[in-house]
Amino acid sequence: MSYFVVAVIQLDQVTKTYQLGDEQFHALDNVSLSVDDGEFVAITGPSGSGKSTLANVISGLDRATSGRVVVNGKDLSSLSDREISLFRNKTIGFIFQSFNLKSDSTALENVMLPLIFSKMGPRERKARASECLAQVGLSDRANHRPSQLSGGQRQRVAIARALATEPTVLVADEPTGNLDSERGREILRLLHELNENGITLLIITHDDSIASRAGRVIEVRDGQVRTLDRHS
Ligand SMILES: Nc1ncnc2c1ncn2[C@@H]1O[C@H](COP(=O)(O)OP(=O)(O)OP(=O)(O)O)[C@@H](O)[C@H]1O
Ligand SMILES: [Mg+2]
Repeated sequence: MSYFVVAVIQLDQVTKTYQLGDEQFHALDNVSLSVDDGEFVAITGPSGSGKSTLANVISGLDRATSGRVVVNGKDLSSLSDREISLFRNKTIGFIFQSFNLKSDSTALENVMLPLIFSKMGPRERKARASECLAQVGLSDRANHRPSQLSGGQRQRVAIARALATEPTVLVADEPTGNLDSERGREILRLLHELNENGITLLIITHDDSIASRAGRVIEVRDGQVRTLDRHS
C-alpha cells in the first residue's frame, strides 16, 4: 500500500492589495504556503499583520488580488461567487472570534443552518445537527438561544456549526480570544481532538500554549509569512 501526503492548501505568490487613495497597501505580500492534509498549523503575528486576511483568502471569504489559491484541488480564482459559496459550504468550516451566531435562533437551528444548502431533508438535517451538538458536549442546550449560553458554550455552538457539513479544513480566527483561560483550554482540547480525527486545522492565535501544540507555527509579519523554527 502506498501512502501520499497531499497538500490540501496551496498558495503561490498570493497578494492581497488594498488601494488607499494613491497608495497601494499589501495586506498579503507574495505569500507562498503549503499545508498538508491533516496538519495542525498555528498562525501568529502582530495585530494588523495580515493573519485574518490570510485565513479569509484560504477560506474563500475574500479573493486574492493576484497569485493562486488552491484548496482541496480547487483553484479558487477560477470559481464564480456562487461556486465559491458552494466550495465554502462543502470544504471549509470557519470559526469566528465573535462566534457570529444568529441571535434569534436556537443552538440547534444555528447548527442546522449550513445544511440548508445541502441535499439533506429536514429530519436528516436535524439529526446531523444534534449529532454535532453532542460532539461538542451541548446536547442539553440545543433549544437555548445564544443569549442564554455562556461564551464558551456559544463558541462550541459555532464549532458544531462549522463541523455540520463535514469540512476538510477547519479555520479558526482567534477562537479563544473572547474566552477565559479555562474555557479557552476546553475549546482548544476540542479542536485538537478534531485534528487528531483527521481534520486539517488552522488556528490564528496570540496564545503561545496553543501554538506549542501545533505541528507547525507560521508567523505573519507585514503581509509576509515564514515558518518559525521552534528549536532555536
Ligand atoms: N478593506 C480594507 N481596506 C484597507 N486596508 C485593509 C482592509 N482590510 C484590512 N486592511 C488592512 O490589512 C492589514 C491586515 O489586516 P488583518 O485583518 O488581516 O490583520 P490581523 O493580522 O488579522 O490583525 P488582528 O490581530 O488585529 O486581527 C491591516 O493593516 C488592515 O488595516
Ligand atoms: Mg485578525
